[in-house]
Amino acid sequence: MLAALLLTLATSVLAAPSLKRAECDVTKLSIPLPSGQTTLVKPTNFTPSFIGVGVGVQNYTCGSTGTFTNVGALAELFDISCASPLSFDSLTDVIFDAWKDAPKEITAADLIDTLAIFDPPNVLGQHFFVTNPITGSGLSPKWDFTSASLKGHGDAFVVGAKVGDLLAPTDDTANIDWLQLNAAEGDLANAIFRIQTRGGQPPASCTPGSPEIFVRYAAQYWLYGGDFAPK
Ligand SMILES: *[C@@H]1O[C@H](CO)[C@@H](O)[C@H](O)[C@H]1NC(C)=O
Repeated sequence: MLAALLLTLATSVLAAPSLKRAECDVTKLSIPLPSGQTTLVKPTNFTPSFIGVGVGVQNYTCGSTGTFTNVGALAELFDISCASPLSFDSLTDVIFDAWKDAPKEITAADLIDTLAIFDPPNVLGQHFFVTNPITGSGLSPKWDFTSASLKGHGDAFVVGAKVGDLLAPTDDTANIDWLQLNAAEGDLANAIFRIQTRGGQPPASCTPGSPEIFVRYAAQYWLYGGDFAPK
């Protein structure tokens, strides 16, 4: 039953024919960032290497002051590089809508397990959190393609350090911030952007002591530079 539901979800997520091929060259594309802000800055020394839609959850715990704190995330990244750039945002919508409406009992880990049957070429890799490699404490975001599109390349991962954080340009109470990160470790990318976020924000308040929550989201991830850009 769960397997059938998952398969339906996966099939609808991947219905777009443009998602059927492996990574296309995206080095000539330019990330669309909002005008009138200086928080997120287009790299001048690197070109895009990978463009994916991440689908998964943002994790939150409830602090003693009754507000949620982000404590990590888990997501699967789908390659959208072969789609028309004009359809990137609508693909992000389609994927988020399918995930948002999926039965509650389906976890992000279930989604990733099921979607692995499409891998490769559709799945670029996974996004999750690891211990900060520089300080040895706290969590840092990681993008890891070593068990999907870049299987066999042990250094095809990047751990990011945030350098820019912008409220989502539309509906920032529902949609998580847009981000820019630099590589702290790994060769997959030199810079990472999270843009076109859909969902992922927690409720405004919570009851201290209540359990961790997992809020579904999707977003575009643009990876710049690194050693693995598809030729
Ligand atoms: C986030 O939640 C998912 C469950 O949906 C879990 O697998 C993952 O380990 C969590 N990550 C962190 C850093 O809490």
